[in-house]
Amino acid sequence: MHLKCSELAEYGNEIESDSVVGKSQILARFLRNEFILDSKSTIGVEFQTRTLIIDHKSVKAQIWDTAGQERYRAITSAYYRGAVGAMLVYDITKRQTFDHIPRWLEELRINADKNIVIILIGNKCDLESQHDVPAEDAKEFAEKEGLFFLETSALVATNVETAFTTVLTEIY
Ligand code: GTP
Ligand code: MG
Repeated sequence: MHLKCSELAEYGNEIESDSVVGKSQILARFLRNEFILDSKSTIGVEFQTRTLIIDHKSVKAQIWDTAGQERYRAITSAYYRGAVGAMLVYDITKRQTFDHIPRWLEELRINADKNIVIILIGNKCDLESQHDVPAEDAKEFAEKEGLFFLETSALVATNVETAFTTVLTEIY
């Protein structure tokens, strides 16, 4: 198959649609209050920490930022074991990323501790006019599966802190 660079990029986006939902940007916002303009797709897994106060207690959160790209799936699933909380992130402007959430949830339930606290995140809510996943659909799914749910924007910092504190408060 011969593809030009631009076509290749589009083809790549199609098959790697669970990548680029904004996981690393959400984390950059939470850890350093920044948004990286030329963010790179995560390779494998990246590990970071932030210490914060939850219910008057100092909590050091160890956060694993996993790659969304299919080719890293075997590596990333190895990091679910031992996790006490998880964020399942989709892109509110890409229905497909929401439709794939049950697959990720199943993988999490197979590999992670059964008491893991999970929050479903609809990211990029700053792109309101391109909304492709009604918040009601996501809310309904989250309720059915016993997940927390929030729409966030890493770009304009909506609900990012709340998303992390929701999970951490439930854990501690
Ligand atoms: P992988 O590491 O490949 O799994 O991707 P990822 O989910 O970590 O995505 P990343 O954080 O690298 O962001 C992907 C793209 O989405 C980048 O071009 C970001 O600038 C953009 N992006 C992330 N968050 C937001 C957001 O809240 N709003 C908007 N408009 N764009 C965002
Ligand atoms: Mg990433």
